[in-house]
Amino acid sequence: MRGWVSVYDARMSSGYDQLLDSTIQHLEALKARGVRHVAVAPETLRALAQPAPRLVAPASPTAPVIQSTVPPAPAPVPARLSPPVAVPPRTESPALFSVEASTPSAFPLDPVVKAAAFAELRARALVCVKCPNLAASRKRVVFGVGNIDSPLMFVGEAPGADEDQQGEPFVGKAGQLLTKIIETMGLSRAEVYIANILKCRPDTPGESAGNRKPTPEEMATCIPYLHEQIDLIQPKVLVALGGTAVEGLLGKTVGITKLRGTWKTYRNIPLMPTYHPSYLLRNQALSEKRKVWEDMLAVMDKLLMPISEKQRKFFAKS
Ligand code: URA
Repeated sequence: MRGWVSVYDARMSSGYDQLLDSTIQHLEALKARGVRHVAVAPETLRALAQPAPRLVAPASPTAPVIQSTVPPAPAPVPARLSPPVAVPPRTESPALFSVEASTPSAFPLDPVVKAAAFAELRARALVCVKCPNLAASRKRVVFGVGNIDSPLMFVGEAPGADEDQQGEPFVGKAGQLLTKIIETMGLSRAEVYIANILKCRPDTPGESAGNRKPTPEEMATCIPYLHEQIDLIQPKVLVALGGTAVEGLLGKTVGITKLRGTWKTYRNIPLMPTYHPSYLLRNQALSEKRKVWEDMLAVMDKLLMPISEKQRKFFAKS
């Protein structure tokens, strides 16, 4: 369980204490991963210097909401992350996204604190030089895109040339296919969150084109950014696109062919491994597209999203 010890304890201690506990646990997890320095944004320092916040009437007995005492000044969130989209707040009874009662509910973060923490994380990643070769060869750091409150998060491998150029994940050919898949689910890119295991394009010295798989060292170096993104976004479902994404999130397991379509768990979050869209571009067989679509139907089911007859039959065998 993330951030607190038990439901009983959560009820008994104040929300502020729980937030502190979560922060301490998060810092301890970072320390265990070898992180020795944590950059803290000025807004966060200002917020920490404020008196303890008041507890707002809880949405449910087990899910108190902490309201920050940070003044409602505009949070330094990149414009494309900030617009409220059609995803209802998690505490409401949603039409588009709902969550199974059995799905563990993460401790809700105050939106201002969350946005500030996300902006601070992004700012840190954008100037990262932990992989000197990638920092030297990249055009842009490709941090992630979408709704930071989305219950659905897609994780890919690493930026390619187009993503490196534009600073946004999944904008090339594979990205266009991913966008189609998301739209066929009845969503838009703006309603989900999309990120990669690696935030920089793997370099290909001496070659002007082409991609390569990230090395284990590169993955180990970069993965803390993704862990932090997931910790802040708190998606209800993760989709791992391809074997590298699964490996980054779950460690080495069996191949993606065996794994896809079977629910796994990443820190209490249901994770659906599926094929990477670039595999579907290489292998145009309808049977492979159908498998990915079946995985997406399972994801929609898990989120209690409405599924139309047309969607259900999209790739059905005739
Ligand atoms: N492939 C990925 O895994 N990620 C991208 O962002 C683009 C292509």
